[in-house]
Amino acid sequence: MTADPAPAAPATPDGITALFRDTYGTEPEGVWAAPGRVNLIGEHTDYNDGFVMPFALPHTTLVAAARRNDRILAVRSADQPGPVVELALEGIGPGRARPAGVPAWTAYPAGVAWALREAGHPIGGASLVVRSTVPVGAGLSSSAALEVGTALALDGLHGLGLTGPGLARAGQRAENAYVGVPSGIMDQMASACCTAGHVLHLDTRALTFRQVPFDMAAAGLRLLVVDTRVQHSLADSGYAERRASCEAGAEALGVPALRDIPAGSLEEALGRLSDPVLRRRVRHVVTENARVAEAAALLREGRPHALGPVLTAGHASLRDDFEVSCPELDLVVATATAAGALGARMTGGGFGGSAVVLVEAGAAERVGKAVTEAAAAAGHPVPRTFTTTPSPGARRLR
Ligand code: GLA
Repeated sequence: MTADPAPAAPATPDGITALFRDTYGTEPEGVWAAPGRVNLIGEHTDYNDGFVMPFALPHTTLVAAARRNDRILAVRSADQPGPVVELALEGIGPGRARPAGVPAWTAYPAGVAWALREAGHPIGGASLVVRSTVPVGAGLSSSAALEVGTALALDGLHGLGLTGPGLARAGQRAENAYVGVPSGIMDQMASACCTAGHVLHLDTRALTFRQVPFDMAAAGLRLLVVDTRVQHSLADSGYAERRASCEAGAEALGVPALRDIPAGSLEEALGRLSDPVLRRRVRHVVTENARVAEAAALLREGRPHALGPVLTAGHASLRDDFEVSCPELDLVVATATAAGALGARMTGGGFGGSAVVLVEAGAAERVGKAVTEAAAAAGHPVPRTFTTTPSPGARRLR
């Protein structure tokens, strides 16, 4: 592979269209966008068939694409150095070695093309250029944005008529079977189905959801996302291990998934488990599902300020019972709440990545500064902090 620099392309429809033209010598047939996400509450519940409440970030992955009349998937990234990668559709499948020189990121679009074909969708060849503003490695679902953006582009090009859950399933299938990460479906559903101004109250078993209005500005609130800029090596193995524990817990309790343990039966269920680690894992999932229900009720009642303690209780459960936090995230949460935030918690899979902090608008700057200073004083990387609001989900831009 040549060491071409990453091609300069502004993250706009015009910028990516120009790069597509330079790359393939033709116009794209369309430009699609799919966002990253943060999760307000409901962590490590999705692979337990439970409930989550993410919203879409303004950061997106753009995909410019056009059909081709050979059976080739051609991909190029404006974020990664390198030439166009051409993959024969018939040659794409899980477990096959990536040919030498083919960069790892191409597994996401390739995996989606494979997953769509596996699900019986008649897709043909396509040329793609992608460009993302979703921070990578920050627990903000840059992978899901690339998967859903690819699925949406292929859907648009080939007229597949997929719904949001159909796009999300293709993305999750790619991630699980092709990339090899045993994630749940929250991130892809968030990218595919969120709408501006709302959190997505999602039942991950039925894949049904409600768009719950979350107008922080009107309530005088701000949500800070604090990217700790650390990712501990346990992230992948720890995630798979937690998922296996949850499945073992459900089996021991004789239910299809931990979602089937209502909060009112928690003590009785815990009494039937002898392993203290399993008890803690089960307690997190059951109480976390209850916190999602509580958060949904608070938003319905127009009491978003009262979300704070629910978020902070969620963090304590992830730290002490599910054991997926880390010193950097714990320091963000402790510092933010001590500095006057209404509540804070890690968001996403954990072992690093980002935290969310809910603050009164007037305290946002002070809290952000306290978090940065505390990280520096502890010798942690200086976090990257931004304020965010619920933004649009996946869509066609042109
Ligand atoms: C990662 C996974 C999601 C979900 C979260 C934890 O983001 O991709 O499916 O399990 O972790 O809530």
